[in-house]
Amino acid sequence: MDHRPIGVFDSGLGGLTAVKKLMEVLPREDIVYLGDTGRVPYGSRSRETITKYAGQDAAFLAGLGVKAIVIACNTACSVALGAISAEYDMPVFGVVGPPAAEAVRLTSNKKIGIIGTVATVRSGAYVEALRMIAPDAEVWSAACPLFVPLVENGRASAGDIVVRAVAGEYLAPLRERGVDTLILGCTHYPLLRGVISEIMGPDVAIVDSGAVTAQRVARDLGEMDLLSGEGGRRRYFVTDSTEGFSELASIFLGLSVGGSVEQVTLE
Ligand code: DGL
Repeated sequence: MDHRPIGVFDSGLGGLTAVKKLMEVLPREDIVYLGDTGRVPYGSRSRETITKYAGQDAAFLAGLGVKAIVIACNTACSVALGAISAEYDMPVFGVVGPPAAEAVRLTSNKKIGIIGTVATVRSGAYVEALRMIAPDAEVWSAACPLFVPLVENGRASAGDIVVRAVAGEYLAPLRERGVDTLILGCTHYPLLRGVISEIMGPDVAIVDSGAVTAQRVARDLGEMDLLSGEGGRRRYFVTDSTEGFSELASIFLGLSVGGSVEQVTLE
């Protein structure tokens, strides 16, 4: 048994979609969330910059005495999971392995699509993870650079014509390939799930990377005897102003934000 909180970070607020699932599967755990809102998005930046930012995010959470770190950002995970795991003597969870395994479990025709940021797609992390589990699967990736800015600005409704036009263009090549399973390889994308599902069609299974990872975190921490079972408190930290945080964060969490929110500076 371990009463320390679980630390979760993302470049912005997208990682709250993973927190939402974590709260469902581990309601009695304390969670500390860091959203690097002052520097979002990471997905258009270089490997060096993403590695530096992700390292600072992890160090901040480690400094708060967390018992595990969840990198709830596909971009940071694709680039910096190895470095962060090597640095800390505690479990570090990434959001690429669990959804890759889930996609392989769900696909019937072995045609799997991945959407993510430019950096995630460029890293090849998903293709590599899928190749290791299912070498015979056909895998296609599409970068969707406008999705994160749209979502961070509260533009995610299926009826929004800008969102529809952008999603239609990004997803067309994956539809043409006939993928039957699509990994949302960015924790911001579950907010666009409605429009993505509509465009891909009802026969395409959608895999939410943060949600699948939350289940893995619950299972693994349980097996390691690292769960508390007595908490349930939430603390949120952001690197930009806290103004408007509750309103926007509640959209990602699907419920009103409880707990405290503070602005911090990362070194
Ligand atoms: N939620 C992050 C991810 O999963 C967003 C990336 C970004 O900041 O561009 O990749």
